[in-house]
Amino acid sequence: MRDARARYILTAMGIPLWQGRESLPAAADPWVPLAARVQDCRLCVLHQTRTQTVLGTGSREARWFFVGEAPGADEDRQGEPFVGRAGQLLDAMLRALSLAREEVYIANVLKCRPPRNRDPEAAEVQQCLPYLEQQIALVAPTVLVALGRIAAQSLLGTTAPLGGLRGRVHHYQGIPLIVTYHPAYLLRSPADKRHAWDDLKRARALVGHE
Ligand code: URA
Repeated sequence: MRDARARYILTAMGIPLWQGRESLPAAADPWVPLAARVQDCRLCVLHQTRTQTVLGTGSREARWFFVGEAPGADEDRQGEPFVGRAGQLLDAMLRALSLAREEVYIANVLKCRPPRNRDPEAAEVQQCLPYLEQQIALVAPTVLVALGRIAAQSLLGTTAPLGGLRGRVHHYQGIPLIVTYHPAYLLRSPADKRHAWDDLKRARALVGHE
């Protein structure tokens, strides 16, 4: 929690504030109730078919926050986002930015796998999005990177196509947000990797200006 904006959001969400994370007692750590709420969540039908929920991974003080769509089969099995083939490409994208997975935060819009990896339904996004909102408020990153159409549309509250959202800086809760291709798409369309790199360089410039 770095600034007044995060403080405001957490207070509005009823999450206790604290001074200095280092000395935070476990009972006052807002990640603990958040993780428990996600783990026990039964707000939508996806809880019926999940193996486990997938909250997120990485540094809770990260400057970079990457947002994907939803867990796939590998993530549902392992409980961690982006561990399958798309995750390997995401790791390569991070390496190109000289970033390790441990220094960024990675989460999805949905915390449960949609059956057969279908697109999330609007109601599922609406019910799950508050968890992501809380994660973003807690991490208070310098930049958000929306990976693919679902992440971008969910965060920006738009139905605009991905092509219309790339190439400029948006804002979410006052945090600069860059939209780029989903790694799974890039596996199918490697020619677009160079455009994704342009997007990531734009994000890197924002982090550099902090
Ligand atoms: N695709 C996503 O959007 N998220 C994951 O965690 C894995 C694949």
